Amino acid sequence: MKAKEIAPDIYWVGAIDSQIRNFHGYLTQKGTTYNAYLIIDEKITLIDTVKDTHTDEMMSRISDIIDPSKIDVIICNHVEPDHSGSMPAVLKHCPNATVVTGPTGEKGLNMHYNNNWNYHIVKSGDTYSIGKRSCQFVLTPMVHWPDNMVFYIPEEKILFSNDSFGQHYATPQRFDDEVVKDFALFEAKKYYANIVLPYSGQVKKELEAVSEFDISMICTSHGVIWRSYIPEIIELYKEWAHNVTQKKVVIAYDTMWKTTEKMARTIYEAFDEKGYDIKIMDLQVNHESDVMTEIIDAEYICVGSPTLNSEMMANVAKFLTYMRGLAPKDGRKAIAFGSYGWNAKSVPHIEQYFKDSNFDVVLSLNQQYRPTEEDLESIKAQTINVLS
Ligand code: FEO
Repeated sequence: MKAKEIAPDIYWVGAIDSQIRNFHGYLTQKGTTYNAYLIIDEKITLIDTVKDTHTDEMMSRISDIIDPSKIDVIICNHVEPDHSGSMPAVLKHCPNATVVTGPTGEKGLNMHYNNNWNYHIVKSGDTYSIGKRSCQFVLTPMVHWPDNMVFYIPEEKILFSNDSFGQHYATPQRFDDEVVKDFALFEAKKYYANIVLPYSGQVKKELEAVSEFDISMICTSHGVIWRSYIPEIIELYKEWAHNVTQKKVVIAYDTMWKTTEKMARTIYEAFDEKGYDIKIMDLQVNHESDVMTEIIDAEYICVGSPTLNSEMMANVAKFLTYMRGLAPKDGRKAIAFGSYGWNAKSVPHIEQYFKDSNFDVVLSLNQQYRPTEEDLESIKAQTINVLS
């Protein structure tokens, strides 16, 4: 496998995982890449590694440039195994290499790999020279694990951002301007919604810290490298981190005998009348990670389920559990709706999930058996009323 030179003496030596579709529950329709980078300087430096399933691919790319035994430094920006998984294999070639990481990085690497590697521990503000180039570190805990960090090379104006600004997007192209721009930005949005969203507070701090840097390239650890659309991706990260919403609603539901679906479509009509952008998503055919991507900028979230054996439908419970873990922290309004035969239990269950997610429940709608035209008119009127 060939390495790709992305700047003089700086190479992408990562791996392309076109087949992965489940990334801890996130549906990755476009696969992903695990990006590792190699810098040929006085100290030959490897930046992150790849998932262990792709070790051979990365090693062949490194070997395209140098003998791996010549690696002097491995910078570990993040312990999660999609980036550190191949470190034991690399360090077999260069056991005396220095592993540069933060304090929680060292702890995490020891807990994962039970090693006695040579560590150089950095904190925010530290600089580490690799020769002609220097690495300026910023610890970014919880974007997305406690150990995350990023670093900037001023001589190259490159930010190595690890998970931040990443996209699960498998492509042989390495740069944002070599792919369809909207695809890259959409996958970055999906990535933020499904990985980064709970940590928006920490993202704000990271954005503030990296605003000090004059950046010409953001080398992420997943997907394409940003070089042409840096202002766009930074601006989007600011919006997502600051929980900026649009005049938009997401209506997600499952249905048994079509009553809950009729309620969903009636709620749709109400929002439509008020000029909202609307995403209506049947949970039988839409994956929860795709629903989350729409929720990230939605002012309203409506969730519906019939009652099934005193519970909500399993598809809805799965979605709500997933959403509760990722929920934006404030400013979202919610409507719970559902149908029942003799035991109206689904709507209270949905309400509880909304409350656990810190959403403001503005309306709850229950419908027994089949709705009449009058029932549907009432549902529409109640919905319009809370929007007024
Ligand atoms: Fe791509 Fe949090 O690892």
